[in-house]
Amino acid sequence: MTTTPVSPSLIATLPGRYYTDPEVFRREQEALLESMWFCAVRSADLDRPGAFRTVRVGRESVLVTRDRTGALRAFLNVCRHRGARLCTEESGEVRRSLQCPYHAWTYGLDGKLVAAPNLTKMPDVDRDRYGLIKVALREWLGYAWVCLADEPPSFEETVRHAAVERLGDPAAIEHYGTEHLALGKRVTYDVRANWKLIVENFMECYHCATIHPELTEVLPEFADGYAAQYYVGHGAEFGAGVAGFTVDGSAGFGRLPEVAEEQDRRYYALTVRPNVFVNLVPDHVILHRMFPLAEDRTVVECDWLYAPEVVASGADVSKSAELFHRVNVQDFAACERTQPAMSSRAYRGGGVLVPTEHHIGAFHGWLLEKLGEQAP
Ligand code: FES
Ligand code: FE
Repeated sequence: MTTTPVSPSLIATLPGRYYTDPEVFRREQEALLESMWFCAVRSADLDRPGAFRTVRVGRESVLVTRDRTGALRAFLNVCRHRGARLCTEESGEVRRSLQCPYHAWTYGLDGKLVAAPNLTKMPDVDRDRYGLIKVALREWLGYAWVCLADEPPSFEETVRHAAVERLGDPAAIEHYGTEHLALGKRVTYDVRANWKLIVENFMECYHCATIHPELTEVLPEFADGYAAQYYVGHGAEFGAGVAGFTVDGSAGFGRLPEVAEEQDRRYYALTVRPNVFVNLVPDHVILHRMFPLAEDRTVVECDWLYAPEVVASGADVSKSAELFHRVNVQDFAACERTQPAMSSRAYRGGGVLVPTEHHIGAFHGWLLEKLGEQAP
């Protein structure tokens, strides 16, 4: 059995094993998910002291909570006594402390060990030393980003700057005031596909004419196959008869106050490696967080964010949210259709990037560099 060689004049994608090999995924967990800043939790979801959320970051469970001073804190979700998972729920709220369900060691919301049964009889336990292990945390765009690295890379350089530079104008993303927006809708998708298929899909629009009928109605240029991300700083223009970024092109909501004139009636998209997509339209922001769980499984949490007054008024966001929900369903179905074929001998040498999708090629180059590998 021979496989068709890929013409050297076309840019090849990664070989299939990069999407199926558990060892590749383990190295990605180490080199990317557990080393870079990772967008974990929407800050406003933890709206009061004691509210917590647990998320998978690489191979770790990370507990993010709001302490009594109102600051967000992140810890490894592991009891220091004998290693039990401290919080097994995905989210919840405690009054003033976190108690391990195994032997009842109790930690303050600042992570300090505050009580343990019979601890007075065990003076050798150093309460400072046996607090929860802290995880670095930064807030940006209204989300808590965490980093498991012992020495986290510069947030400014590796997240903020890297993200805004892809939009061309460093101020462009700030105009949407994402950190002040309110949650209008959230959908969690359990996608049976490798996280890189989801990234690659998001970065291209060659598929838009085939699988996104509603999106190409609103953004006609997408039918030509060139994604907004193909050009730095490009925003895809709404079609002439389109009133808003909605499933039927009907009017959405008022333009967010700082959105510039040239950003109006346009859709901008941004990939913040390793796990975030940001979609900007005049009246809302759609932010995807990916949680890669296995080489063939990725949970995606997608938030639709609107001006606080829109959400407070109880306005119906369904037509607005339905557009990108359909896009998500269509995209993730395509990724799931692709995943099983990654282990086919037909894909041993990978596929091709046409039209010349240099930005996806750059993503592969970045990945290989992070993994310390040469191009296959
Ligand atoms: Fe948590 Fe023992 S493992 S108290
Ligand atoms: Fe798509």
